[in-house]
Amino acid sequence: MNGCLTGFKLNESVRFARSLESAGIAYLSVMGGTYESFFLPDIVIKSKKTGYMVDLAAAVKKEVGIPVITAGRISTGSLAESILEEKKSRFNRTGASSVGGPGMA
Ligand SMILES: Cc1cc2nc3c(=O)[nH]c(=O)nc-3n(C[C@H](O)[C@H](O)[C@H](O)COP(=O)(O)O)c2cc1C
Repeated sequence: MNGCLTGFKLNESVRFARSLESAGIAYLSVMGGTYESFFLPDIVIKSKKTGYMVDLAAAVKKEVGIPVITAGRISTGSLAESILEEKKSRFNRTGASSVGGPGMA
């Protein structure tokens, strides 16, 4: 997001999500962060917690009808299952966590 140092706020993300849904996209993957995020201490601290994007994904999911995917240090199978059981997302994905977190291997 050039020229938008702090990125979207949640209410802006929800509006954007609704627009994308109206335009006909099949699903949303709720994730945040760019190279510039490493200079925002709040984001860096938050991103060290397991499931740090889940509540934001859940807030977006409440507002749209299409499937929502979340990610962000979903480092164990039990965390992934609880996110699905609590219907905070429809799917979870994992990137670095599956490499560094033997619980997901
Ligand atoms: C501080 C920070 C910086 C990030 N920078 C980038 C980036 O430059 N490009 C990108 O595609 N994703 C970026 N992300 C998003 C991560 O790639 C995302 O957290 C990852 O897909 C989740 O992996 P995990 O589920 O294994 O934790 C960033 C996230 C954070 C918290």
